[in-house]
Parts: sequence; C-alpha cells; structure tokens
Amino acid sequence: MENSIFKPYLLNAATYKGGKTKSEIKPGADLIKLSSNENLLGPSPKAIEAIKASLASLNEYPDGNAARLVKSIAEYSNGKLTAEQVVCANSGSECIEMIIRAFMDDGLECIVSTPTFMPYLIFSRKMGVNVIDVPLKADSYDMDIDGIISAISDSTRLIFVTNPNNPTGTYIPDDQIKELLERVPDHVIVVIDEVYYQFVSKPDYSTAHKWVNAGYNVIGINSLSKAYGLAGLRIGYLYSTPQITEYINKLSRPFYLSTLSIDAGVAAISDTEFIDRTVKSVANGRAYLKKEFDRLGLHQTPSETNFILVKPDMDPMEFEESLLQHDIMVRPVGNFGAPGCVRITVGKEEHNVQLINALEQILQS
Ligand SMILES: Cc1ncc(COP(=O)(O)O)c(C=O)c1O
Repeated sequence: MENSIFKPYLLNAATYKGGKTKSEIKPGADLIKLSSNENLLGPSPKAIEAIKASLASLNEYPDGNAARLVKSIAEYSNGKLTAEQVVCANSGSECIEMIIRAFMDDGLECIVSTPTFMPYLIFSRKMGVNVIDVPLKADSYDMDIDGIISAISDSTRLIFVTNPNNPTGTYIPDDQIKELLERVPDHVIVVIDEVYYQFVSKPDYSTAHKWVNAGYNVIGINSLSKAYGLAGLRIGYLYSTPQITEYINKLSRPFYLSTLSIDAGVAAISDTEFIDRTVKSVANGRAYLKKEFDRLGLHQTPSETNFILVKPDMDPMEFEESLLQHDIMVRPVGNFGAPGCVRITVGKEEHNVQLINALEQILQS
C-alpha cells in the first residue's frame, strides 16, 4: 500500500474481545456469570458508599494523576511502596498498554508465554512489535526459563510474566522468578502481572514488590477489577522504581481517572474486611469445586486464582452452550492458547452448587 495514511501493523491488528456481558448473552435472564473472573460477592460496600458521597461534586474536575488513590495504594502496601513508585490507570489493561507504549516500538521485541492473557500480544502488535512466544511447559504450565533466555535478542525490551496466570490459574514460585531475573540482561524489563495475587495460598509466592525493591528491572501490574469487585469502574495501577514510574507517567492524560473511580478506589483499597471475605469465599469455593470436578471426572488444572481451567471430554463450545441452557456463563479459552479448555470463575456457595448440579446433568447424559 503506497503512501497509505494507515500504519500497516495497526490496520491488520486484531482487537481484544473481552468476555460477553449478561445482557449480550440473554437479555433479562438471571444468569450466573462465571466467565470473566469477577468478584461474585459484588463490589466493595465501602466503595459503593464512597461513590454515593462523591456524586454531588461531579461538577468539579478530579485530582490530577489520581494523587489520592496513589497515596492510598502506597499506604496499604505495608511499607513496600512509596507514592513515587505507583502509577494509576484506567484498568490493568491500560497499565499493560502504557508499558508497551513507553518501552516498545516498531521493530522491537517482547516475549510472552502462552497460554496467557492476550492483550500483551494484541497491544504489542498494534505498535509493530515482534511478539515472541515461548510457551509454558505442556501439562505443568511451568515457565520455560531456558527458552525465554535463549529467545532474548538485542531488540527485546519486555518479558510478560503472569503470576498467577490467566487462563491456567497456575503460579510461579519465587525460586523460578529469581532465576529468570538473575539471567535477564539489563536492557530487558520483566513485567509481572499479578491481578489475582490475593487468591494465592502458597508460601513460596511473592508479589513483584519483592523484586522491585531488591533492585531488579521489574514492573508490577495490578487491578481493582478482581478481589476489590470494581471491574465496571476500570481502575488499575502499576509500580516499579521511581525512575521507571516517572518515565511511564509521561504518558498519563489529564484527569484520566474519574472522581467516582478515585473515591471508590481509595475506599476499596482500605476495605480489608471485604477483601478477607472475598479471599475466604474463593478459597472455600475453589476447594469445593476441585473435589466435585474430580468426582465428576472433569479434568482440571490446580488453581491459585478465583477461577479454574478445565478440559471437558467434549467440544468447549458445546460445553459452554450446555451450561448456558442452565443459565450459567463460562469461557472457552482456545484463543488464549489453551485449546479444548474452558475457564470457570469460582462463585458464591449457591452458584458453585448450581454449577455442579448442571454439570452432573451435562456430563452424565
Ligand atoms: C492476567 C490479567 N491481567 C490484566 C487483566 C486486566 O484487568 P482489567 O483491565 O479489568 O483491570 C486481566 C483481566 O482479566 C487479567 O486476567
């Protein structure tokens, strides 16, 4: 295409298709949505109160750079972060995009490990970035550290590590993260996406704070869409060294987070009672579903998140459709690099029981 106004790599780029909403699937039906890893307990009650209280000031601009939310995140990090190390954004997805825009360009490279969260690939390709896939190891879904290290070139800038991972639900223990960081050259940043970190129960798991503060080239990504129950508001944040966050902050737009998001975010971050309740509910639900999936002979991957990856003995689309007949939404994840698999969010007790009742009928018919 000569003298085109379009950038070829943007013109040909795929767009990310998130999970469908309830009304897109069956308008007006009372569906149980176990397809997007949301918090089935609802939003943080403190966040709802904060939104109500801030409605009257919507005629005024919010604070620039979401300073109050940044301060809150630093305060609730228990001394692990200072405000200078935090950048807020309109969702975890936007954090991913900001990092890619900040460090990547046409001709540069990044490394991902499928099956994983697709926006790393989709957003990178929109910038003309060459995405190198070093898949997770078959069956265990462990990170292929040797494969990643040998895929690094002079053009590599970012390695995306999802811990715990979507859609597998698996986590990477500290010794493996440390080995990777020790072997990565200085011109490469390791991005650790940890939006499900609250749900990990293993003692050998750490968030990216540990690695940032130990001086490695690391950026952590987080979101208020999962445990905090605020997926509809779109709030996320990233953190790293002050040098890296000051650089990424140059991409921030004026007043990019709304007053409602800032106030709800500050309230949700402080709502430790709600987070504890959420984590307990997910831990109980996960143990129940694990036991029941085993009883039903449904193949599953051990999960450290608020969802479980299963591999039914039937076409994943047929599995999805059969559960929809019982008003339950789940998500086939072949397009995440997990062919034949379906991701199921852990719900509240009554949702999980309904899911198992439906599966009993589907799998035994
Ligand atoms: C691994 C991972 N990272 C980031 C996100 C982005 O979350 P959000 O854009 O809702 O903040 C998700 C959402 O599903 C995810 O699974």
